[in-house]
Amino acid sequence: MSQFNILVLHGPNLNLLGLREPEIYGSVTLTQINSILQEESKRLQVSLSCLQSNHEGVLVDVIHQAMDKIQGIVINPGAYNHTSVAIIDALAGVKIPTVEVHLSNIHRREEFRHHSYIAPIAIGQISGFGVNSYILGLQALVNHLNEAVNH
Ligand code: DQA
Repeated sequence: MSQFNILVLHGPNLNLLGLREPEIYGSVTLTQINSILQEESKRLQVSLSCLQSNHEGVLVDVIHQAMDKIQGIVINPGAYNHTSVAIIDALAGVKIPTVEVHLSNIHRREEFRHHSYIAPIAIGQISGFGVNSYILGLQALVNHLNEAVNH
């Protein structure tokens, strides 16, 4: 296995994927997304762990615990993307390279979804490609980490 341990974080309500507004979020469940990402992580030769929480403080705690263990984070913060200063502060505090992903295109939706607290401290944002947003986000993150090691 490679040197990189990657953490995938899913924020609130993403446990309902498959049932929740399928016209927006599709019919793939969170369990299916996590197993697709596990497959992709094997191909990319990184080790991957996934966690979902509906609680901001739990996400903050998990980000703190990632320090010194995790080399990169893929996060779909859900609604906390648009509200949480605590999550950006946690990510900025641990300084772990992070990619922000969204299933839906947040910029084509209600105005309150257009602002991302996470984007200014993220390597980048991938939004609007359904489950592929996660796969593209993971690929982009691993690419970024590999480039950093090779330079
Ligand atoms: C979401 C977009 C957010 O605006 C929303 O609150 C979510 C899901 C997405 O993946 O498209 O919970 O992050």
